[in-house]
Amino acid sequence: MRGKSIMKVIGINGSARKDANTTIIIRAIFEELNKQGIETELIQLADVNIEPCRACFACKGKGNCVFRKDGFAEIFSKMVEADGIILGSPVYSADVSSRMKAMLDRGGVVAATNPGILKHKVGVAVAAVRRAGGMTAVDTMNHFYLNKEMIVVGSTYWNMVYGREIGDVLKDDEGMANMRNLGQNMASILLKLNS
Ligand SMILES: Cc1cc2nc3c(=O)[nH]c(=O)nc-3n(C[C@H](O)[C@H](O)[C@H](O)COP(=O)(O)O)c2cc1C
Repeated sequence: MRGKSIMKVIGINGSARKDANTTIIIRAIFEELNKQGIETELIQLADVNIEPCRACFACKGKGNCVFRKDGFAEIFSKMVEADGIILGSPVYSADVSSRMKAMLDRGGVVAATNPGILKHKVGVAVAAVRRAGGMTAVDTMNHFYLNKEMIVVGSTYWNMVYGREIGDVLKDDEGMANMRNLGQNMASILLKLNS
């Protein structure tokens, strides 16, 4: 935490579709954070090439991935800078998207070889889902946080919102209300940690 300065949260959208359901639910959380003066930035992986982890472990002690021919290192630097991280994925084949999985694999190895690099940051995981696999996707992303000494925020239901076509999630009133509550909880934890 940066101690009483303006806090920042980055949201990473793992969908192949820009500005679709996963974006909508991340933005619902952003709105609550912005109300509390917390800055937000959305990164859409549809715009960025993220290759799979090569398992070279050259990141040890370097604070980032050494492979610089794609967009991973820039995003990971933003994760390290941020006070909070929102990982959002559509459910693909009953889990996170392959774009999100590549982020988790590479970020997970960099964090493992650079202990404490994400310590005490606040993490939130959300999924847009048509019908099934939401729990698995949310769990996959929460597991990223849980062995990196991060603080995981929850809400009153598990963090998935239902929808298939772009904008359908807005019809899931309960899911959207849960996103807003999740955003309020994330803001509350960030403000307490920064006080
Ligand atoms: C490759 C692919 C696989 C999918 N697999 C599932 C699935 O296993 N379960 C499910 O409920 N929805 C599945 N869906 C539907 C998406 O999760 C759903 O449309 C979601 O709202 C997409 O989010 P987006 O608008 O942010 O892309 C799949 C969609 C795609 C493109």
